[in-house]
Parts: sequence; structure tokens; C-alpha cells
Amino acid sequence: MAGNKVIIIGVGLVGAHLAYTLVVRRTTEEVVLIDVDEKRLGGDILDISHGLPYIGKITVKKGSYEDVKDASIIVLTAGAAQKPGETRLNSLKRNIEVFRNITEQINRYKTNAILLVVTNPVDVLTYAVSKFIKTDENRVIGTGTTLDSARARELLSQHCQVDPRNIHAYVLGEHGDSSFIAWSHANVGGIRFNDSCPVCHGPCEMQFETGLIKQVREMAYKIIKNKGATYYGIAVAAEKVITTILNDQNSILTVSSYQKDVLRGKDLALSTPVVVNREGVVRRIPLRLDENEQQLLQYSASIIRGEIEKLGL
Ligand SMILES: NC(=O)c1ccc[n+]([C@@H]2O[C@H](COP(=O)([O-])OP(=O)(O)OC[C@H]3O[C@@H](n4cnc5c(N)ncnc54)[C@H](O)[C@@H]3O)[C@@H](O)[C@H]2O)c1
Repeated sequence: MAGNKVIIIGVGLVGAHLAYTLVVRRTTEEVVLIDVDEKRLGGDILDISHGLPYIGKITVKKGSYEDVKDASIIVLTAGAAQKPGETRLNSLKRNIEVFRNITEQINRYKTNAILLVVTNPVDVLTYAVSKFIKTDENRVIGTGTTLDSARARELLSQHCQVDPRNIHAYVLGEHGDSSFIAWSHANVGGIRFNDSCPVCHGPCEMQFETGLIKQVREMAYKIIKNKGATYYGIAVAAEKVITTILNDQNSILTVSSYQKDVLRGKDLALSTPVVVNREGVVRRIPLRLDENEQQLLQYSASIIRGEIEKLGL
């Protein structure tokens, strides 16, 4: 990918695993890393670069904010991670100040980069970045429910014994406790789950549907309880968004993006399926959600908007 430079700000567990994923998948030519903990950053750069002789020529280096001038993508993974049992929204108070500081530093330079927010609560912070950074709102993207959608597809794949790449299921709304699956559109090989399940040969039971979204919502809590943090899944999901942007792919992703039309004109950021390319979010896919799903989307939007209003943004 000649000329593509991806900056990661905040190289903790998520940032370091993302950097490693970008290198191993050869997503970009240059990975520039920024973190306040320069000692650990230096260690990570050495460690990742020792795989390069078996991969190819990719630059992995420590950077400064001046690097944003010619960056293609700036990924924001800085901040404190969720603690065991803590909701994503609880970590907002800590992370909003980190984001004010980082975006102030980015604003000192002129950049045409797309901003990709990963830090939680990702929807509120995506909105905050769209307000803090001097760029068009469509150029600020949050990973949103890309990870949740992958989790749902993987669980469905195990249930149906079908390749997850043949399963289409969108988790929408907040990347958090109010997310939901748009079952009216979920399908395997074109067969809607509401019509027929390839394993059970009948419509999926409501009980199965509620159990599945519960598992998706609780997945991060379960992983954090077991090993303290989640980072492999999100690293791959973020890489997918990055490769979509750099390769101008026009992929439909459930990223979090600035929206005005979901909650009676009150603006916020949340995940619905959108088309992503080199310019950021370029189109929204107008899904016809059923009545229940529309209510779930409104509820999720109201949770996010409530947090935005508490911040006075
Ligand atoms: N969106 C998702 O799906 C998803 C999934 C997993 C984790 N996350 C979130 O990603 C974030 C990072 O998680 P983690 O496990 O890597 O945490 P971590 O504590 O391991 O890393 C955070 C890093 O940010 C750095 N940092 C803090 N303030 C900074 C600043 N002002 N400038 C530069 N760097 C700074 C820290 O030094 C640290 O290295 C958390 O908010 C976590 O909840 C999001």
C-alpha cells in the first residue's frame, strides 16, 4: 500500500495488537505509534519490528503529533480500559479528558486523515471527536458494532454449522448494553433466520434470539473477567475498517458514525450499516427495520444522547 500511513495514538493492549495486525496483514506501508508511556512503546516497536524480515518492508516507528500532517488514518485507542464489571459508559469520565487533550494536539496541524475511534465508550467518543476535530463529520468513524456483529456471526456460525462469512447479521445501535440484532435482515446464504434456520429447518425461536444478543452484549464482560482485557477481536475488526478505507472498498460496515435522523433531530453517533471508502462514511443503507427494532434503535440512541448531554457537548 504505497504511501499509506496509519497512526495509532494509545499503544496499550488494543493499540499494540492493532499495530501487529496491520503489519502481519500488510495493510499499510507505515505504522506510526504514539503513547505517553514511551518506555513500553519502545519495547513494542522493537518486538513488532523483529517479525519484519519474515513479512516485508513496512516501517514501524515512534511518532509525534506532527506525523498527522500526511497521515491517511489516525486511530484513537488511548485511554483507560474497562475494569472488570465496569460498563463502557463508566469509563467515559476518564477518557473524555484524554480525548480533549489528544484532539487539541491533532488540531495544531492540517490533516486530511480519517479519524478512527476505538476507545470506549466508542459512540460518545466518536461524537466528541466529530465536535473537537476540525474535519467533516463523515471523516470521523468509530469501530462501533463491527466487533459485536462479528461476535454475533461467529455464534450463529457455530449454531448453524455454516461458515461465518456466509452469515449476514448486523448488531446495531450502541456498542454497549443496549445493542440489538436486526433479526428481520439476518440471513444465512440468503435465507432469513425469521423464515428458516438451515440447522433446525424452521424459524429461529424467540428464546434463541434473546439468548444470542445477551451473549453478544456480555462477551466483553466475560473476556475481561477471564483475562483482564479484550484486544485480539477488536484489533482484527479495526484492521477491517482500516483496509476498507485505504483500499477504497465501499464496504458496508456497522461502524459508528455521526447521525442526525435517528433521534428526532438530536445528533449523536451510533452504528447502522453504512458504506465506507477512502472518504470515510459516504452513504447510509436505509434498512427497513421492523417496529420492535425501530424502538430498540431509538432506545439505544437515547442512551448515547443522554451521555452526550451530560458532557454538555
Ligand atoms: N471499541 C471496541 O470494540 C473496543 C474493544 C476493546 C477495547 N476497547 C477500548 O480501547 C481502549 C484501550 O484499551 P486497552 O486495553 O488498550 O487499554 P490500555 O490501558 O492497555 O492502553 C491504553 C493506552 O493509552 C495510553 N494513553 C493514555 N493517555 C494517553 C494520551 N493522552 N496520549 C497517548 N496515549 C495515552 C496509555 O499509556 C496506554 O498505553 C479502552 O477504552 C477500551 O475499553 C474498545
